[in-house]
Amino acid sequence: MLHDAPSAVIAGTGSYLPVKVMTNADMAKIVDTNDEWIVARTGIKARHIADSEYETTSFMASEAAKKALEAAQLKPEDIDAIIVATTTPDLTFPSVAAQVQAMLGVPPCVAFDVQAVCSGFLYALSVADKFIKTKSAENILVIGAERMSKILDWNDRTTCVLFGDGAGAVVLKAHGDTKRGVIATNLYADGRLKDILLTSGGTATTGDAGMIQMQGKDVFKYAVTFMAEMVDDILKQADVKREEINWLVPHQANLRIISGAAQKLGLPMEQVIITLDSHGNTSAASIPLALDQGVRDGRIKQGQMLLMEAVGGGLTWASALVRY
Ligand code: ACO
Repeated sequence: MLHDAPSAVIAGTGSYLPVKVMTNADMAKIVDTNDEWIVARTGIKARHIADSEYETTSFMASEAAKKALEAAQLKPEDIDAIIVATTTPDLTFPSVAAQVQAMLGVPPCVAFDVQAVCSGFLYALSVADKFIKTKSAENILVIGAERMSKILDWNDRTTCVLFGDGAGAVVLKAHGDTKRGVIATNLYADGRLKDILLTSGGTATTGDAGMIQMQGKDVFKYAVTFMAEMVDDILKQADVKREEINWLVPHQANLRIISGAAQKLGLPMEQVIITLDSHGNTSAASIPLALDQGVRDGRIKQGQMLLMEAVGGGLTWASALVRY
């Protein structure tokens, strides 16, 4: 860490979920599936699906950001950087971050998107942490926002039942208390594994997006291995013991992967924030959505140690230790 560098503290969280809820029973009307299979294999019971007209990725990101700003007691003009993690931007360009800047009325500032699929929010958090530690920014909106529904093959039951739409945001703030804030982040990617989880076509812009294709069993195997390895790495790097972790806030892809990770940490499931059952896999939005839920329902309290981890397309994988 840089000498006398400020720490990057989570000063506020927020989220947005589309109005429309689609249950497993609704899914069974579209593809040959059933609630029992989906719950047993994944833990998912329902997901939110964005309205194709107005619930764009930028809109959802802005709504989540407004709530995070309110929670942090900051105004749009206090923000000096916006970093959005998304794999489903509304347009190839401008970035979702630039659109959020305009929608919120943030004065000209640093604004860009990060693309690391389900690991995207932790990539964005890591970049934002470095902006703060190098004193390049003081108040950063870090957002994960996804409209996965537009890159789903709605005829493919092996993928369409897994995903949902939404956005989560945090305000990361420069702070003098170096015991709080982002303690460590670790980012990884191995593009040689691209073929087991990818989209079939172009960018995620309306109309010409490719669709998600996944070799679920292979992704599952790598997810379990990477989750275990990166937990060991980050705890060692930060000199933090397993017993010090109060909450696991994982990417929400599959309950079996999450419970495996919790078990390895020796954490009971009561110390894991789960939103998968009602959100499905919202890719880069899933961790900030879970974080916001844990904060707003009072489970996550100031001073507690959070471990976040994710595996996604790329393959990418990432972890973060944060003292809230
Ligand atoms: N409903 C009913 N049956 C189904 C469904 C469905 N929705 N989907 C598949 N099946 C059937 C299959 O056809 C297969 O039938 P068969 O035995 O007659 O051939 C059977 O169920 C078993 O299918 P599997 O694919 O072997 O099921 P598995 O236990 O592997 O579970 C799952 C699939 C849930 C996708 C799992 O592999 C998984 O969670 N993988 C990891 C996903 C993940 O972590 N993704 C990472 C992030 S995503 C991102 O980055 C964008």
